[in-house]
Amino acid sequence: MEAHQSVLSPGGSDAEAIATLGWIMFGGAGAIFLGVISLAVFAHLGGETLRRRMANGRFVFVGGVIFPAVTLVALLIYGLILTGARVAATQADALRIEVTGEQWWWRVRYPATGGDPDLMSANEIRIPTGRQVEIKLSSADVIHSFWVPGLAGKVDMVPGTVNRIRLRATRPGIYRGQCAEFCGGPHALMAFYVVALEPAQFENWLAGQRQPAATAFTPLQKQGEGLFLSTGCNACHAIRGTSAAATIGPDLTHVGGRLSIAAATLPSNAASFARWIRENQHIKPGNRMPAFGILPDDQLAALGAYLEALK
Ligand code: CUA
Repeated sequence: MEAHQSVLSPGGSDAEAIATLGWIMFGGAGAIFLGVISLAVFAHLGGETLRRRMANGRFVFVGGVIFPAVTLVALLIYGLILTGARVAATQADALRIEVTGEQWWWRVRYPATGGDPDLMSANEIRIPTGRQVEIKLSSADVIHSFWVPGLAGKVDMVPGTVNRIRLRATRPGIYRGQCAEFCGGPHALMAFYVVALEPAQFENWLAGQRQPAATAFTPLQKQGEGLFLSTGCNACHAIRGTSAAATIGPDLTHVGGRLSIAAATLPSNAASFARWIRENQHIKPGNRMPAFGILPDDQLAALGAYLEALK
């Protein structure tokens, strides 16, 4: 399924409202532009009598004061109605997710429900279609901005504050999001995916995510697991089910099942993991992970195979 990132192709109720408003403004602005140009053409070609009639005070007052006032008030009322809908209370059955912007990735948390523990992920948010989702947005360092054009508007993530965005996906799909506030260094490579699934598919996915990491490995993957725990990867990353439990970097428990790594910078596969570990400072300059250029090819391949197997 192709990921798309466009306000003109809405897949959520908020994005649909924004797209409709956009088209109304585009159509209105186009009509006014044509009207003004037509008047200019008439005035130019129409001769002295027409020009004198157009210079009439009432014509100028209606066209220059009344018309803009009515148009702007109508737009204001429409905008207030839209905003009112967006700030309405979260529904009781809404899915709650927390996303923290960090330089330069997204920490994703599905808070505990019932007897299930918190679920940590990164750079990818999966949601069910047809259900309201409330995402609490915060920042661990500087101001970021959470923007998935195909689903909803844009909300800043401000240190020390929790903002909320509510959205509802109307059709399944992969929606690309992008940090929309310059946050230093590789800001342009701080993207993510929102994957909207049918409700039953979503519940399946969630149940799978609650499981600890995979353990059935080939010898190569097993070697990769050993390297992960012995070369320092576990100083920053967690993999539930292993001794790796650090929270500085993204949780990698099911990283092989995500669409991308490094905040939608590379596709998630063994070759990408190996490349990323060795040359991440070339791929995403300035990111907080040191490049492990010391590891030989065979060890990188083992690490890549292991991480890819963490579906
Ligand atoms: Cu985070 Cu720009």
